[in-house]
Amino acid sequence: MNKPKVLVTRNIFPEWINYISDNSELDLWEDELPPPRDILLKKVKGIDGILCLLTDKIDSELMDIAGPQLKVISQIAVGFDNININEATKRKIPVGNTPDVLTSTTADATWSLLMAAARRITESERFVHQGKWKTWHPLHFLGQDIYKSTFGIIGMGRIGYEVAKRAIGFDCKIIYYDVNRRKDLEEKLPLEYVDLKTLLINSDIISLHTVLNDDTYHLIGEKELNLMKDNSILVNVSRGPVVDSKALYNALLDKKIWAAALDVTDPEPIPNDDPLLKLDNCLIVPHIASASYKTRYEMSKISAENLINGVNKKSLITCVNPEVNY
Ligand code: DGY
Repeated sequence: MNKPKVLVTRNIFPEWINYISDNSELDLWEDELPPPRDILLKKVKGIDGILCLLTDKIDSELMDIAGPQLKVISQIAVGFDNININEATKRKIPVGNTPDVLTSTTADATWSLLMAAARRITESERFVHQGKWKTWHPLHFLGQDIYKSTFGIIGMGRIGYEVAKRAIGFDCKIIYYDVNRRKDLEEKLPLEYVDLKTLLINSDIISLHTVLNDDTYHLIGEKELNLMKDNSILVNVSRGPVVDSKALYNALLDKKIWAAALDVTDPEPIPNDDPLLKLDNCLIVPHIASASYKTRYEMSKISAENLINGVNKKSLITCVNPEVNY
């Protein structure tokens, strides 16, 4: 019997590449960079399943070119804003993602970014490496305290909640905004539900954990940044376009807010000449919040299993559009 044809658009952990190749006819794109669009479109013709990344645009054009035999789209990420879910659902194609396994790792990374920005860790480390450290000085590298601060969380999903749990240990007051009030979580942790404006005005730290959709695009723009405290720190581990980058640059330059720590940018990767890169109060890392060995292994595993389940019309372990799951 012919094995199902699959395309995997980047290398994942070798064990899971082996698992896929044992169970399919595998076309693996091994480059570090994503397949260019024209090549991606050529490669999807006639495939039964695709394992893709957030850098691959999976839209109706791609699904049409792939053909009606396409049985599964397996994303190695929890977010799926690169995939047209409605189009997949219309075609009865289940879309897998990798939630849960990355929740705590991403929450840890949020805190790493926050602490580094609050205490100017990357900036002062550069200072030492550049040979500029001449003495201890009472006024050098003053930062912001995190303990006992008011911690505003936008998006109280799985990751937002884990970030909140860690804030308890820092004696923070936690306020949150989400389109859905999470009374179930309020029973477990001291979380105060507020509207967005109240959160922006009162928080010392604002951490973004929303999905990217039409409602959250540029959720944080000039108006919102103007409401924030001048000592405040904005952390974004969600998606770059949730923040209006130009407005953020102006707010950081004019010291309307104190610092930003970004795991994600708009666009990604951030262009080398982007003005945000010139600011000492803007810490930027290359979308690494889920990048621990253990978590990326688990993400590889789930996405590989979702792919092979899907091409065999078996139920995906985690499915974004369960109404069409097998
Ligand atoms: C995701 O999973 O959506 C992250 O952005 C990458 O881990």
